[in-house]
Amino acid sequence: MQLPSNIYLDGGDPNETKEADRLLKKAGYHGLDGQTTNPTLIAKNFAAKNGGKKVSMDGAIGEYKRVVGEMSNVIPKGKISIQVIGNPATLTTAEMLAQARDRITWIPNGVIKFPCTTAGLGAVETFCTEGPVNITLNFSQEQAAAVYVATKAHATDVFISPFVGRLDDKGENGMDVVANELEMYKMGDGHVNVLTASVRTMKHLLYALWLKSPVITIPFKVLKEWVDGGLTVPPKDYIYDTPGLTEIPYKELSLDRDWKDYDLHHDLTDAGVAKFWEDWQGIVG
Ligand code: E4P
Repeated sequence: MQLPSNIYLDGGDPNETKEADRLLKKAGYHGLDGQTTNPTLIAKNFAAKNGGKKVSMDGAIGEYKRVVGEMSNVIPKGKISIQVIGNPATLTTAEMLAQARDRITWIPNGVIKFPCTTAGLGAVETFCTEGPVNITLNFSQEQAAAVYVATKAHATDVFISPFVGRLDDKGENGMDVVANELEMYKMGDGHVNVLTASVRTMKHLLYALWLKSPVITIPFKVLKEWVDGGLTVPPKDYIYDTPGLTEIPYKELSLDRDWKDYDLHHDLTDAGVAKFWEDWQGIVG
């Protein structure tokens, strides 16, 4: 069975990876194409299994390594995103680069996830010549233009993760960012893969498939609902109906400026970096 997009699982529990892969295979697809993780999901899984027990920072990082190792055993050919983590006040380009160079050795199929901030893209600009990257917490087309330019020298895969659900939560149509970025990237050389993230509903999933987003990462609950419904794909005349959400209009942007000249700021990016750190600290003590 062919699908218009590669299918990743979004989660922090290797048992879900196993089950999602099994369900997809049973439904006639070749299985999971990859997995995304983040500090919140890894911490949530750890807390659920350890009843509130805390570990040292090294212990928590060790846990992250162990979890992605298990995931890698389940989907050795899938691409598994591993995120850099830190206090937003001190998470410098140098610190992210050091973490990336360590995390890429954890598993053979890792992809390093960096936040879509100036410090993050500084690290991405260097690291993309060494290994695969996924730029996370993306909320605007301007950020995507900067990502395109910052990764022009890439050696391998480049992904960008627009977070649709978090924009919807604010009353904006998050899927517009996916559509706008796919449209804008038609001007380019195709090296950045839009990975639709923060998927919360079947409607997000169906529209992302309709748009042919190269990758979609799906939480287990939505993936199960999709599989149970027979892995439906949207018809050609599918209409993504989003009453109450404000449109995010397409911007005419060129892809030939210095990446630092684009407006990288988005409140949700900053809030996201802070929340990832807060959630991670929830298991450290
Ligand atoms: C993906 O890489 C992200 O970790 C994830 O999709 C975030 O989803 P959320 O906005 O539901 O937390």
